[in-house]
Amino acid sequence: MKLFLDTADTAVIGELAATGLVDGVTTNPSLIAKSGRNIAEVIAEICALVEGPISAEVAAVEFDAMIAEGDKLAAIAPNVVVKVPLTWDGLKATAAFAAKGVRTNVTLCFSAAQALLAAKAGASFISPFIGRLEDHGADGVGLIEEIRAIYDMHGFDTEVLAASLRNPGHVSAAALAGADAATLPPDVFRGLIKHPLTDKGLDQFLADWAGTGQSIL
Ligand code: E4P
Repeated sequence: MKLFLDTADTAVIGELAATGLVDGVTTNPSLIAKSGRNIAEVIAEICALVEGPISAEVAAVEFDAMIAEGDKLAAIAPNVVVKVPLTWDGLKATAAFAAKGVRTNVTLCFSAAQALLAAKAGASFISPFIGRLEDHGADGVGLIEEIRAIYDMHGFDTEVLAASLRNPGHVSAAALAGADAATLPPDVFRGLIKHPLTDKGLDQFLADWAGTGQSIL
């Protein structure tokens, strides 16, 4: 499963990309606003830091304006994926972008029926929002399972990108549910490696090794 970072903070992206485990980046208008930077500049910088798909979201809600914004975003770098909202205009724009070879990430997906429409429109990625669904008492991981089953059963190649993930458990659950990719806030990415027994075990090994007085080199 691919791991993306869900942030527009280029310093953090650079730091975490150095692990060699970051396959892409997603942004949205809220994350661009949080960065305090110009969207074209920040997306260009992210595209230079990470080779994989970089989602840049349109802010328009009408078809023609979505196409104009998406074309401008896609021209920033070859690895830009145009992110569009799951609306009728967004789905029309998805089909238009697919027809000219521009990849899309259809965002704000909260149901399997919506995911079916996005796949039929030719979306490259569908982004079901797990955390926000759970905030409303719904089964976010179950939604990924439903989308996976529908896409496999009907031969859609749209990739399932688990989004709105709040903790490492969400990431492993998304992987088990068959997500192709997951996008993680930096703190969740950092949290993936943590386990108290790893720290405790390493401390014990190092103490025992020191007691031997040996050196491997
Ligand atoms: C990513 O594509 C989404 O915009 C993001 O994961 C939303 O996460 P949030 O629900 O934590 O804002």
